[in-house]
Amino acid sequence: MSFDQGGQTRLRELIPLNAPELSGNEWTYLKECLDTGWVSAAGPFVDRFESEVAAYVGARNGVAVGNGTAGLHVGLRIVGVEPGDEVIVSSLSFIASANAITYCHAFPVFMDADPATWHIDPVKVRSFLQNECEVRSGQCFNKRTSRRVKAILPVHILGLACEIDRIVDMAREFHLKVVEDAAEAMGVRYRGLHAGTFGDVGVFSFNGNKIITSGGGGMLVTDSDSLAEYARYLSTQAKDDPVEYIHREAGFNYRMSSLQAAVGVAQLERIDEFIAKKRAIASSYEAALSGLDGLTTMPVPDGVEPTYWLYTVLMSNDTTLERRREVIRILNANGVGARPLWHTLHDLPPYQSCQAYEIEHSSALYRRAISLPTSVGLRDEDLAVCIEQLRKTLQA
Ligand SMILES: Cc1ncc(COP(=O)(O)O)c(C=O)c1O
Repeated sequence: MSFDQGGQTRLRELIPLNAPELSGNEWTYLKECLDTGWVSAAGPFVDRFESEVAAYVGARNGVAVGNGTAGLHVGLRIVGVEPGDEVIVSSLSFIASANAITYCHAFPVFMDADPATWHIDPVKVRSFLQNECEVRSGQCFNKRTSRRVKAILPVHILGLACEIDRIVDMAREFHLKVVEDAAEAMGVRYRGLHAGTFGDVGVFSFNGNKIITSGGGGMLVTDSDSLAEYARYLSTQAKDDPVEYIHREAGFNYRMSSLQAAVGVAQLERIDEFIAKKRAIASSYEAALSGLDGLTTMPVPDGVEPTYWLYTVLMSNDTTLERRREVIRILNANGVGARPLWHTLHDLPPYQSCQAYEIEHSSALYRRAISLPTSVGLRDEDLAVCIEQLRKTLQA
């Protein structure tokens, strides 16, 4: 791709959406792993990463796993989701949220987003539970399918948080467990507490594009010692007697490696700096873009202290999918690594046959949303390019 600078045509690389920042102690800690031989799924860095992440978010326990999806799968299993159960989940999320339910041989029930918060709508969740479900002998059943509804998997997206207090209250009322998908919300606070610490279990992702990375990894956090112990057991092949290879159930090889944890520990040392940088990027976008051509900037729902992991805007309400796609194509062609939000899950092929409860706003958000480069290392001049290109493209 080329651009003109002072009469010279030069190649321009795409300004990345969310590139990792790896200039801290990553090398030092990785070398320590290699020097000491701790490279596999145990060792001081794994223990340290678990306890430091748990301490950072204010949870009693952390269980490090190979990725966030594995954390969600184990999270659902340890709270008792069984084959044939249903789990309520946001329709506007990355597909991993629903896939983790499928891995349990359970069924997602997709929920709409509230257009004001972009997150799971607690009013619709209540309406579904009150009108479509019944509680019998301390368990909740979907009247339409006769299946047990066992859990809610609310997703905190983009470095914001859902109204998790209302979701947890409803879950208690209807005898449901809560597994928070906080893959994108490490460091986000809701009413003073960290996202991921409200439910029975919370799960973070440390994929390369997340606010901190371990090169791929995840962390399940919980205040329950027994759930943490079960998660550790299930994610290390459910070893009852490691010497005699006795296993009571079919577990998973899901633990995080020491090499991943070493990178994670180095990254965690800088998380507050990373959050500050993301917030500065967000306020530049906000100042430059609010009010522009019907554009809606990122909301900050009541009680949320955002990290702005991925700054996202909405095109005007009458925008078509084709126009939004065209805008992203033009931005990409001009060096801006913009992306759409995820396709709504309920109308993707693996999930079309699942129940989707009165979904309208998730689909509109998908149609209108554009995520913009928000890397911690985003340079001021590149940020200016992103803003200018978006302005030009929308006004063309
Ligand atoms: C909302 C959400 N849930 C789950 C995941 C899965 O995490 P991982 O990629 O670490 O498996 C991701 C991101 O990748 C995500 O964005």
